[in-house]
Amino acid sequence: MASFLLLQSSPALLATWHGLSARVLTNGPSAFEATHGKDLWSYVATNPALSKLFNESMACDARRVVPEIINGCPGLLDGLDSLVDVGGGNGTTMRLLVKACDWIRGINFDLPHVVSDAPACVRVEHVGGDMFDSVPNADAAFLMVIISLCIYLFRGRLATGYGGG
Ligand SMILES: *[C@@H]1O[C@H](CO)[C@@H](O)[C@H](O)[C@H]1NC(C)=O
Ligand SMILES: *[C@@H]1O[C@H](CO)[C@@H](O)[C@H](O)[C@H]1NC(C)=O
Repeated sequence: MASFLLLQSSPALLATWHGLSARVLTNGPSAFEATHGKDLWSYVATNPALSKLFNESMACDARRVVPEIINGCPGLLDGLDSLVDVGGGNGTTMRLLVKACDWIRGINFDLPHVVSDAPACVRVEHVGGDMFDSVPNADAAFLMVIISLCIYLFRGRLATGYGGG
């Protein structure tokens, strides 16, 4: 949990809270972009210390949350043949999910430079792309939107193209 708390309390992330009301009242850029002039991913790409903290934070959150989902929601993934993790990084979440649910074929989806570094894993296919263009087809999509601490799990058939919902 340490890296997660350190990331959330880092000056770069704390500064964005000052832009929250402006973000809620207008339709402008995200609070992070309004504060730093670029999105979170571009920002961490140019800041190695924050990038390391960000990566560790994502992985530590996955290690904490995924067992909770698997143990706390039995049967949730029953009947699914394939599952895509959107923004899955190096595949930490998908690794844990296919280990717990050995009938699932996992697709770990993230930007091409991210998945190009992801270590190979049995029953996990790494796919590079941009989620704002399209998302690989699977029976369900898993999105862990860490920054806002929300977890969405969509069941049902996904069409390629995530913008429509
Ligand atoms: C964090 O992960 C991204 C994506 O895998 C990678 O490009 C970047 O180099 C990592 N950052 C550090 C500091 O290792
Ligand atoms: C994935 O990245 C996280 C954060 O950098 C790291 O803790 C974890 O060991 C990596 N997993 C693999 C399988 O390389």
